[in-house]
Amino acid sequence: MIRKIKPRYDDDTVLSILRRNKIYIFADCGGRGTCGRCRVRITDPASCDVPSDAERALLSENEIAGGIRLACMARVTGPAEVEILPDSLIPEESGHGDIAARKIEPLLQSEVIAVDYGTTMISGAVVDLNKGVISEASVINHQKAYGADVISRIRAANDGCGEELRLISQDDLEDLAVRLGRDPEGARYIISGNTVMGHLISGFSLKGLGEYPYTPVDISLRRDGNLTFLPGISAFVGADTVSGICACSLDKAGAPWLYVDIGTNGEMVLGAGSDVLAASAPAGPAFEGSGISCGMPDIYGAVTGVVMTGRKAVVSCEGGASPKGVCGSGVIDLMAELVRNRIIDENGTLADEFAEDGFPVQGDIVLTQRDIREIQKAKAAIRAGIETLIDESGIERNSIKKLVIAGSFGSGIDMEKAAYIGLIPEDILKAAGTAGNASLTGATLYALDTGFGNRLKSFCDRAEVLELSCIPEFPARYISYMGV
Ligand code: FES
Repeated sequence: MIRKIKPRYDDDTVLSILRRNKIYIFADCGGRGTCGRCRVRITDPASCDVPSDAERALLSENEIAGGIRLACMARVTGPAEVEILPDSLIPEESGHGDIAARKIEPLLQSEVIAVDYGTTMISGAVVDLNKGVISEASVINHQKAYGADVISRIRAANDGCGEELRLISQDDLEDLAVRLGRDPEGARYIISGNTVMGHLISGFSLKGLGEYPYTPVDISLRRDGNLTFLPGISAFVGADTVSGICACSLDKAGAPWLYVDIGTNGEMVLGAGSDVLAASAPAGPAFEGSGISCGMPDIYGAVTGVVMTGRKAVVSCEGGASPKGVCGSGVIDLMAELVRNRIIDENGTLADEFAEDGFPVQGDIVLTQRDIREIQKAKAAIRAGIETLIDESGIERNSIKKLVIAGSFGSGIDMEKAAYIGLIPEDILKAAGTAGNASLTGATLYALDTGFGNRLKSFCDRAEVLELSCIPEFPARYISYMGV
């Protein structure tokens, strides 16, 4: 795709101009020049400033000589022509649900759209109050053009892009409705999402979420026009976690339980009787198939599982398609298999033969050393969070009767492999099970069950928040779980 662009401001970058023109490219680091995902080709190098040190660190000399730049670093000095590389472009239409095959109909009076509004993917269901779920679909969250995780989105909003992010959320919700076969005009949505997504959709200020003590504007059960937002617990333990817990009926469970939502922000909640302790750890999006060079969400063409035969990976793929990238469940499998086959050592370092070019998974899909470090960081954050939560609660770990893993990491993760790489504790593996997209189930139940809203609210009232950054042991635990 080639586009002609013009700067409007002195410091306009290619990335900011593309965003203004609704051309969304991956920008996992939020435009800080550290991820290398926003590669574009500038036809006439003189139309931009000279490559920065950050670009020289991430691009090869050949790439720079060929006009490749990082869109977030390249400042445009005059009219320019930019080629968007296919790997950099966030797909316009990607996700589950076949638009072409569907007739778009108005939403019936008895219908609502239940939504799990994730940082990476947005999943939805048309729910008929009399008949239940009619259809399901998902779309990519195009806010990814402003960063892969909630921290980058907060930064972008606080840097003045809040309205752009709000408009993207509106477009994505409309796209979701169409993909569900419903006219977005007059559609009613029930939103279960993390606190940052709720704030961005509502157009709230994110100032309070950007600095300690991380104060949200409003996380209550609330209605805003055609949108109903489910309640959350805190700035970083959101409605998606609360609705997932209640959807799994953990709010009614007597015996100790642990719920872990593996997303860009790992959210974990430990319950024992009426006591509920909640925490969150910034994991990054690796287990959502984002933020790594070979990653992709759990959509058509995603590698969901991997086994090794010798030093060769054999992959299984969503929809039986040819593999295009690796989603969360595939990431866990891949790491476990590479460690088991000693292609990655206990420090997470690739064997010498793959050190330079990365491990070839299949076709063009390559797991690089940098990808492995991102996965290690995500794993360490979640596991250190789990251990700190258990420790601070005072609960005996062997009394935990249920460990529920939720998230949009793929069609179910292999728990043994998750434990093998240290993502979840081996000694409570027997209690472990997956809940899939429990957040969407929660939003659906809210539509169908008149008492569900009260359960959500009373659960939020019971929860106490543990701020992991204030626990002295957390950093040491994080480092100790970096190994695999
Ligand atoms: S390097 Fe440009 S967005 Fe990350």
